[in-house]
Amino acid sequence: MSAIRIVSTGRALPGKVMTNDDMSKIVDTSDEWISSRTGIKQRYFCDGEMNWQLAVESARKAIEKGDIDINEIGMVIVATFSPDYAFPSVACLVQKELGLRNDIMAFDLNAACTGFLYALNVAEGILNSSGEKYALVIGSEQISTRLNMEDRNTCVLFGDGAGAAVIEKNVTANYATVMGSDGNTTALICPGQAMENQYIDMDGKKVFKFAVSTVGNVINELLEKTDKTIQDIDYVICHQANERIIKTIIKQFDCETDKFYMNMSQYGNTSAASIPIAIDEMYEKGLLAKGKTIIMVGFGAGFTWGGMLLEC
Ligand code: UT7
Repeated sequence: MSAIRIVSTGRALPGKVMTNDDMSKIVDTSDEWISSRTGIKQRYFCDGEMNWQLAVESARKAIEKGDIDINEIGMVIVATFSPDYAFPSVACLVQKELGLRNDIMAFDLNAACTGFLYALNVAEGILNSSGEKYALVIGSEQISTRLNMEDRNTCVLFGDGAGAAVIEKNVTANYATVMGSDGNTTALICPGQAMENQYIDMDGKKVFKFAVSTVGNVINELLEKTDKTIQDIDYVICHQANERIIKTIIKQFDCETDKFYMNMSQYGNTSAASIPIAIDEMYEKGLLAKGKTIIMVGFGAGFTWGGMLLEC
């Protein structure tokens, strides 16, 4: 079965660390509230860095780690809802900065926090219908510019960062995807450039409910499609929005807690970057040796959702 494999990964974070105590100097909040409601301890905010620079740094690391010949990269897709410019895309800036070939597509894709999963799915389609060897898929966000620093309901939750993966074709039965969207345009919204402000507005409880019901369904569909059980899966990597969301999902499955990777304590919710950042950390820790089977699940504004079961 035509599928993809992750060849190498990289991540990039801006230099400014904001702890929960730092946030409590900006809005009426506390480390106790943020930690207990979300599991988040700190996040990174850009302080001069731009989205495309994070994207480039994460991609450069992935290319170096995989010892990739850049002339064999056949497309660049950047998942982001927070590009520096309406155009050129972050992907075009990455292409130029890394000196990639000119006869390839470089484009951004916006599916909010599900973006990296959508981008992997699109890359899989293009890789398998072209003769290209590698796709460079990046999730990169500068969310701090979209945060109302007077709104404690949202500003404590998010962080900036980027994660990149070089992927290639694979032939394996250990592969399935589930993608969806439902057009909910009220629970989680970030107005665009022509609007009065560009700040994230969220009904946290609605998003929470959507997340815990959808992610479980996506995991079950992926397992059904591949005739597997949760015991056959080495790790599940969910979008890192909130520890309580993931703990609620774990209860739906008969498995050990550490099968579900979590790192939001360090980064907050980095939207499209959260899954590739997690994957990069996991490779670094030696958790994703060749042959391991993982499930990645994203969920976010739109509402959008996406899952992928693949073999490392
Ligand atoms: O990528 C997807 C993005 N979004 C998400 O995944 C968000 C999903 N939702 C959530 O994670 C949770 O709903 C939140 C963490 C956002 C909120 O947790 P909650 O348990 O649903 O809290 P709440 O919104 O019901 O607020 C409870 C109280 C309220 O006070 P009152 O009305 O009970 O007096 C809020 O005003 O907590 C207050 N509150 C805060 N207090 C201190 C809200 N934000 C804060 C804060 N610090 N930062």
